[in-house]
Amino acid sequence: MTNTRRLLGLAAAGLFAWLAPGAASAQGNLTVYCSVQEEWCRPMMQAFERATGIRVAMTRRSSGETLTQIRAESSNPRGDVWWGGTGDPHMQAAQENLTVEYRSPMLDQVHDWARRQAEQTGFRTIGIYAGALGYSYNTNELTRRRLAAPRCWSDLTAPGFRGEVQVADPNTSGTAYTMLATLVQLMGEEPAFQYLRNLHRNVNQYTRSGAAPARAVATGETLVGITFLHDAVTQKLTGAPVEIVAPCEGTGYEIGSMSIIRGARNMEQARRFYDWALTAEAQGLAVQANAFQLPSNRNAPIPPQAPRFENIRLIDYDFARWGSAEERTRLLTRWEREVRAGSR
Ligand code: F6P
Repeated sequence: MTNTRRLLGLAAAGLFAWLAPGAASAQGNLTVYCSVQEEWCRPMMQAFERATGIRVAMTRRSSGETLTQIRAESSNPRGDVWWGGTGDPHMQAAQENLTVEYRSPMLDQVHDWARRQAEQTGFRTIGIYAGALGYSYNTNELTRRRLAAPRCWSDLTAPGFRGEVQVADPNTSGTAYTMLATLVQLMGEEPAFQYLRNLHRNVNQYTRSGAAPARAVATGETLVGITFLHDAVTQKLTGAPVEIVAPCEGTGYEIGSMSIIRGARNMEQARRFYDWALTAEAQGLAVQANAFQLPSNRNAPIPPQAPRFENIRLIDYDFARWGSAEERTRLLTRWEREVRAGSR
């Protein structure tokens, strides 16, 4: 290429870069708060931009952190859509009037469990995926420590696992709040808090993000990580020495959700995103991002690697109760006081 042609090429590229944002924003802008893994947030936003020409500004934060942010911004909202993250904080946001009702024309295409999430909140949130809670462990580290393979929640409080268990902080992470509410429903509240105090002795770190312990298991940084099973699948598929456990006593699950934020500056674009995110095509993008939740659109393909509910002993999780502002706040305060503040 001659210098002149190269210069012309650069000038054209510069012109394109200058024109492109204008062209995209002709369809408008959208600010999305994303609470799934960054690896899924990014391609999802790019696909929406390609499909609609709407320009997306995305911020990734864990579920509890996003609720805190939306609440803090409520007098001057900056976000339009909250996409992903566990359902409990979405339900609390609905109850606190931080999100608005929207009846998407896509409602007919979603599973009953996703629609129920909408009905229980006056259509202020809706299920976009589901996934069961459990844990994973690093098989090399287990052999090295000559420990028997854990199968149950009760195994994780054994003295052999001291300092070997990682889980997120339920204040920031929806995963960890799901664990808290699951154990309370599974065991009863007093035994659950006793269990959590015992577990605390074995916890090496409370992470901010729910899926982080699954990554730490894969690298051998921790022996056990409590996460959603699909996050452990993502790690196992990289070839890491990971074994995945659906606890023998039974376990809870999430209905990952989506809501439109009250006072959204880009309401029309927010609704377009909402409708699009409920399509089988948009939900089918998950597997390309190594996300293995169960999609809420009845026609979306279920990734073959996704942990299936039929094979897991699930509790009948009461989302309306444990996603209520009163119960969620009460459990978190109690956890902070009786578990986190305790010595190890
Ligand atoms: O994207 C993985 C995932 O586990 C989702 O299934 C879930 O809704 C979200 O992360 C929870 O993240 P956190 O625990 O960090 O709020």
